[in-house]
Amino acid sequence: MCGIMGYIGGKNAAENVLEGLKRLEYRGYDSAGIAVLDNKGTISVVKRQGRVIKLEPLIKNLQGGAAIGHTRWATHGRPCDGNAHPHSAGRITIVHNGIIENYAELKKQFTDEDETFFSETDSEVVAKLINKNYNGNLLCALYKTVCVLKGSYALMAICEGVDAIAVAKCKSSVILGFGSGENYCASDEPALAGKCSEICSLEDYDLALITRKSIQIFDGNLNPVSRTKRPNTAVSASLDLNGYPHYMLKELHEVPASIKNTVSAFPEVCGSYLKAVAGADRIILLGCGTAYHAALIGKRYFECFARIPAEAETSGEFRYKNPVITKNTAVLAISQSGETADTVEAARLASSLGAKVVAVTNAPYSRLTRISDVSVPVEAGSEICVAATKSYTGQVAALYLCALAFANGGISEKELSELEKIPKLCKTALNDINVDSLAQMCAQSHGVYFIGKDLDYAVALEGSLKLKEVSYVPSEGYPAGELKHGTLALIDGNTVSVALMFDEKLSEKCSNAVEQVLSRGGKAAVITDSETIANKFRNRCSVIIMPNAGKYLSPLVSAVAVQAIAYKCAVFLGRDPDKPRNLAKSVTVE
Ligand code: G6P
Repeated sequence: MCGIMGYIGGKNAAENVLEGLKRLEYRGYDSAGIAVLDNKGTISVVKRQGRVIKLEPLIKNLQGGAAIGHTRWATHGRPCDGNAHPHSAGRITIVHNGIIENYAELKKQFTDEDETFFSETDSEVVAKLINKNYNGNLLCALYKTVCVLKGSYALMAICEGVDAIAVAKCKSSVILGFGSGENYCASDEPALAGKCSEICSLEDYDLALITRKSIQIFDGNLNPVSRTKRPNTAVSASLDLNGYPHYMLKELHEVPASIKNTVSAFPEVCGSYLKAVAGADRIILLGCGTAYHAALIGKRYFECFARIPAEAETSGEFRYKNPVITKNTAVLAISQSGETADTVEAARLASSLGAKVVAVTNAPYSRLTRISDVSVPVEAGSEICVAATKSYTGQVAALYLCALAFANGGISEKELSELEKIPKLCKTALNDINVDSLAQMCAQSHGVYFIGKDLDYAVALEGSLKLKEVSYVPSEGYPAGELKHGTLALIDGNTVSVALMFDEKLSEKCSNAVEQVLSRGGKAAVITDSETIANKFRNRCSVIIMPNAGKYLSPLVSAVAVQAIAYKCAVFLGRDPDKPRNLAKSVTVE
């Protein structure tokens, strides 16, 4: 994981890189660091545990035209100053995103020679290797080094006395930015927003040598290659909170726009999507975290609308289970960032086995998009809060359209107009519902159980994930019918069970579960769009009434309720909902 950035040119390199790192913090915020190469060829490094902002006072006196920087999500070695990147060895300093899987055996070669390591990371050995391989040519030293690395890497290296940045890529993304008298490299586009007019993505095993005047790219055999340039359309996420106290709340209020824009964008890609999935006799939906929860809903859409076998699986499980794929399998890989390592690799595997791969993503130039046959856009806009809100509802809207189009060979005006009503319902819900007392109840509880049946169960899983990731309150989501098969043993006055009931036919059954909770002294809450259900439980437990969107579109509305509960609960407990401990928004390592 981690975000990395490099700059070389006439401007203050440290300031430039710091600005880029701030925009990459969604990739990790355990520590941050910058190395600057000054005009005398000397390298200075500053690094600190914690957020990028801590570097601001430290770079004040760092002058120089070349710099590389890093914002970390710890994989090997705890978050601390010593494990923060950059790492140096001799003349060489590097930043690394990825995991060096054979680091222990590589490190042993050095420790056997009594070489001292200053960190517990897998990355420091890369600096040692480049330094050892350096013979007056930085790029060759990097090349020799990556030849022995196993794992994933986006690497940037600088060398004392050499006015250049050397870059290498395998699995983790690297974007190069072409400027005038200056050039850039970064792990992701947002870092380069507004900085240069053209960018390109490196392919796996590529290397690059970046100077002020030129960028030379080489393939894995060190042959010069060119990679397609594209206009730099990256927009820096507006850091403006627009008067909201947190991005999570701001983004929750952007759910209606996310659905609206995703729906408007679909007709343009509908034809190419249908062409890609034509003849499919099986659908597999893949994703991680929240995207997996969207996949669970998508699976039900395909089953219900097209009556086609559909499966939803977490990408990390799918890629290691020797999956059954035929050329008639269509795989929908769902990812907000389009960079999640497990999802990208799962999609790549499916494609290599003959499946047609559809990327359902918020990131049009991501790794996932590039390896997929077609891309269905989720138009959620940039999402800064680590916990997904509007991207989830955007994904669900996109999957609804994908399933419907697959079932009917296209999307009708009538179907589109049904969906177009939903943003208004979400807006009403966001303005009208009051989840304060339920959120407070959750905050004071020992555990919160989200339950539901069918689509409500899928949203229950997302509600539970949201709550635990932003508030750290232990939580679980499970099918309402499963309560009596184990979880009931945990129910007491310190637990809260939140039942989602948006399917009239199934509500009766889910009601039974709520009764069982109440009769055992557990606290309960009901979230529903039905007055009948609400009346049944009013005065007996907390009840939240939501607008009625119909059975299949109800997840778009019920999601708003569970996201709002999680947000409020985090705030009551004094947590930072935007940057929960130990997490990152984009998980580019396994
Ligand atoms: C991380 C984020 C989650 C997200 C998941 C998948 O764990 O914290 O919010 O759902 O990655 O991310 P993706 O970009 O693939 O949707």
